[in-house]
Amino acid sequence: MKKMIEEAVNAIKIRLNLRPDIGLILGSGLGGIVDLIKDSIEINFCDIPNFPVSTVSGHAGKLVFGKIEGVTAAVMQGRIHYYEGYNLKKVVFPVYVLNQLGIKNLIITNASGGINNDFKPGDLMIICDHINLLGNNPLIGPEDMGPRFVDMSQAYSPELREIAKSAAQSLNLPLREGVYACLTGPSYETPAEIRMLKTIGADAVGMSTVPEVIIARQCGMKVLAISCITNMAAGIYPHELSHKEVIEVAKKSEEMLAMLLKEIIKRI
Ligand code: HPA
Repeated sequence: MKKMIEEAVNAIKIRLNLRPDIGLILGSGLGGIVDLIKDSIEINFCDIPNFPVSTVSGHAGKLVFGKIEGVTAAVMQGRIHYYEGYNLKKVVFPVYVLNQLGIKNLIITNASGGINNDFKPGDLMIICDHINLLGNNPLIGPEDMGPRFVDMSQAYSPELREIAKSAAQSLNLPLREGVYACLTGPSYETPAEIRMLKTIGADAVGMSTVPEVIIARQCGMKVLAISCITNMAAGIYPHELSHKEVIEVAKKSEEMLAMLLKEIIKRI
């Protein structure tokens, strides 16, 4: 694994003459935020050795480098999910690469279903904690990439969450905060599963982010994660859930999220 990461990092460094300070991983339908980047350098995932390639519609599959509000950023437009059939080591490979590129702050966005009745589609939610229901963990296996028993008691940086809240306030943007439950998917949940998730304390549900956060914490990166509530979870509204709806609502929230990210990055 170390050698594979080194090969990917070297291939990226050959094409870059800057050192990124901030990493962004963009979720379903939220990739357009790369338009914020000035003088960007783009590298397709398929041109980076050992890099997993996303197979999901709504995920572009490239790494974009450049300045956002004067800060050098590395942006993953598109991510890899466990449900695509990759093992978790492959899913988190890009996080190890971002770490080796020198990134200390990682911002992750995703699309999720709202469980908390106060939420509505289009809302943005800071993740304050998560519940890992993948039945798997990217740290399972040999202890070759750093510590194995990673502390997750403050996985989502309180400091970055405060910055996000004050950034949202200054823009007059409503921002929710809550617990994100991660399931494998790719089927959406049943109404009974959503009732269970509500009972155990989840405010939103999705199929990503948690593996990346575990590895970011293993690497000592600070994490901020923002979820776009693209739909109310199964059984809350009477209509069926669809990936098309998820992408459409994410697209509508993209502009608001981009404004917020810009303001957050300025303040980090
Ligand atoms: N469930 C799981 N993942 C999701 C959802 C959902 O309702 N919406 C967007 N991603």
